[in-house]
Amino acid sequence: MNLYSFDDPRRAIHIHTPTPPQPWINYLSNGRVHAFVSQAGGGLFWHKSAVSGRITRYRMHHLPLDTPGFYVYIRMPDGSVWSPSFRPAEAELDGFSCTHQPGVTTFNAEKSGIQAKLEMFICPDHDIMVWNLSLDSDLPEAIDVDVFAYMEFSLQDWKCEENFGYYRTHQVITRFDEEEQALLMIRRLNHPPLVYMASNVSLESWDGEREAFLGHYRTEFNPAAVEKGRCSGKELPTGHPCGALHPRLSLKPGESANVSFFAGVAEILDKDFEKAKATMRQSLSSLRKTGGVQEQKQKLNEWWERHFDAFQCSIPHESAQRQINTWSAVNTVHTGRYSRAVSRLAPGSRGVGFRDTCQDMLSIAYRQPDWAAEVFSFLLSQQFRDGHTVHFCYPDDPEGPYLSTRSDNHLWLPLLAYAIVAETGDVSLLDRKVAWYDDSTEATVWEHLLASICFAMDNRGSHGLPLLFGSDWNDSIAEMYHTKEGRAESIFAAQQAVVAINRMIPLAEALGDNESLNWLEESHRTLTAAILESAWDGEWWRRGYDDNGHPMGSSASEVGKLFLNTQSWAVLSGIGTLEQRQIGMDAVEENLLTDVGLKACHPGFIPWPEDPDSHCGSSRGTNENGAIFCHANTWAIIAEALLGNADRAWKYFTQLIPAEVAKTVGIERYAAEPYAWVSQIIGPENDRYGWANVEHVTGTATWMDVAATQYLLGVRAELDGLRIDPCVPADFKKFSITRSFRDCTVVIDIEHRSGQGRGVQSLTLDGKPVSLEKGPVIPASLLAGKARVQVQVLM
Ligand code: NOJ
Repeated sequence: MNLYSFDDPRRAIHIHTPTPPQPWINYLSNGRVHAFVSQAGGGLFWHKSAVSGRITRYRMHHLPLDTPGFYVYIRMPDGSVWSPSFRPAEAELDGFSCTHQPGVTTFNAEKSGIQAKLEMFICPDHDIMVWNLSLDSDLPEAIDVDVFAYMEFSLQDWKCEENFGYYRTHQVITRFDEEEQALLMIRRLNHPPLVYMASNVSLESWDGEREAFLGHYRTEFNPAAVEKGRCSGKELPTGHPCGALHPRLSLKPGESANVSFFAGVAEILDKDFEKAKATMRQSLSSLRKTGGVQEQKQKLNEWWERHFDAFQCSIPHESAQRQINTWSAVNTVHTGRYSRAVSRLAPGSRGVGFRDTCQDMLSIAYRQPDWAAEVFSFLLSQQFRDGHTVHFCYPDDPEGPYLSTRSDNHLWLPLLAYAIVAETGDVSLLDRKVAWYDDSTEATVWEHLLASICFAMDNRGSHGLPLLFGSDWNDSIAEMYHTKEGRAESIFAAQQAVVAINRMIPLAEALGDNESLNWLEESHRTLTAAILESAWDGEWWRRGYDDNGHPMGSSASEVGKLFLNTQSWAVLSGIGTLEQRQIGMDAVEENLLTDVGLKACHPGFIPWPEDPDSHCGSSRGTNENGAIFCHANTWAIIAEALLGNADRAWKYFTQLIPAEVAKTVGIERYAAEPYAWVSQIIGPENDRYGWANVEHVTGTATWMDVAATQYLLGVRAELDGLRIDPCVPADFKKFSITRSFRDCTVVIDIEHRSGQGRGVQSLTLDGKPVSLEKGPVIPASLLAGKARVQVQVLM
């Protein structure tokens, strides 16, 4: 049996087993409360921050894996118990599937003549996670079944719970609110949100104390209350809280029995408990009304469809089309919300990575520019007056940011600024004011961007290249070369600074800021000269210089001879001769290509103790030390597309589509979700070659989306209009794209007659020819005031 199947019209994946090689999760969210849930019902629920706002517990690394979660037990008249998500009852099922769709997870299971459908999602308008259970019976007679819904609550502050769990238990109580028929969890200290659990049918019994529900030395796999068929009705005076609700459902042949459970939070403002209860009451009453739950689900679907509508394609490559149209777009929402912080292996304490979130917003910028602009403003508030930025920050936690100077963080800002302004056409964004992180005076967005470049220009080393500081994009580079003295320089950061300047030049022109324009052009020349002088190694671009002025990433080295990023960014920055850029990318194919993707560097560094002097912390073939670093592969795709090498560009893209890698190496070896992007896949220098790592929360998501939509399919926003410049294989004879741009739906039909892969020969808009004088760009002025236009492209 296949472990899974895709269902594209429903934007769904059906997982046919509750026990794939590792948990395959989905995220549910309304932007305020969030959950992830696995195919076995395991998962975590939190409010704003998974650290300080954690509502339930989840064991990240410990056994039993993927527990606890959002659990339903069905107790049959003979006392046997089963769960629609297999866990926690673990009774063998007669049928099972778990379906993940954007924002919704549904379990369909069958046992002893009963079919169960359990659907979970978070309401857009209420801070409530809904669990809808419906049961259908094939049995000849009517029966009553006892249903138990169970969640293990956390003590609502993960770090405190880990460090001071014994005292924390004294700060938490549960109470049953008879009037609302809701179980409340209240924490007495600091007034975090009121947590509650309720349902839309009458309850037989309930429990607010974990021990009372489970019994001594039992777990959620075999709770005493379920075995007995009744909860104890115990409120928690101190100890470990839980929410357990028990209704009884009557199952008649040919009729469905339904119940919805609501797990919610209500913020407590000004210590006002009654107000929070009123919010709870309001939410519950609207969901208990007929059609209330369905209305919320409908709204949630509409939110997602608007996100998808920004870009859809019809192309002759099934798995690429599926990944572009649905799963990449889904993944970018998750990274937009969670940066790298929360997943089944990440507890949230990492906060928002500055460089990470800047990159994540590149894809959000064209799908939801308002969201990107809001995050962009926040990021600017984390920039120091001298132009560098914090490294991580914690917008929803009391904690201050992590300060560690890196050579790249600030250089991502101009890329994001350009993406937003090009998308909206609204240059006034650059005039808005945002305070510096270290100085309460405000500066315009444009001044912030100039400061980013200033910092790179003011902090250069003996080769005229930006100093590396703690790292550039590659977190391990300083460690690999043990650069402690502060003299190391990064060629990658130099190339990135050039790309940033290239994005700022048209912005300076649009603002009419000639002084800055001249300075930017001069900085461009200075960096270009430094790169040309010091970066070419003969067959590829070097990576940088260490503290002692020795080259990194040179053929003269034993290990780490060749790095991927400086080859791809040579193309992105347009530095060097075309031949050099092409040779660099040829070296990539020759030395870094594996069966599934490109390694980050080659050969991997030999770590301690095999090399007693090594400072490289990662085993060979893992992380930046020779893993197939998917995030970095995205830039190779863009580079090959910019060079017009369609076959290579598409190969580099399609070979890394999760379901494709899973086919190449086998799903058991790949192990991760076949729909979510991963940060890296273990490389061939390691025996676990093919194992996928860091799923969902990775920069791969945004950049794969950008690479596919803006460079392979070639539709990208520019200040003056929409560029349409695809780079596709010869067998893409006809394909189409629908793209929203500045309130207009642009429907693009492309005929690729030449078979050359790149090169637009003609463009028409609603039947009228568009001049190609400024390249294949539809001027924004031609779209103004139009809701929908039809574009024909001939290649
Ligand atoms: C993952 C980190 O989140 C990201 O910040 C970094 O750029 C890459 N690894 C590469 O080191």
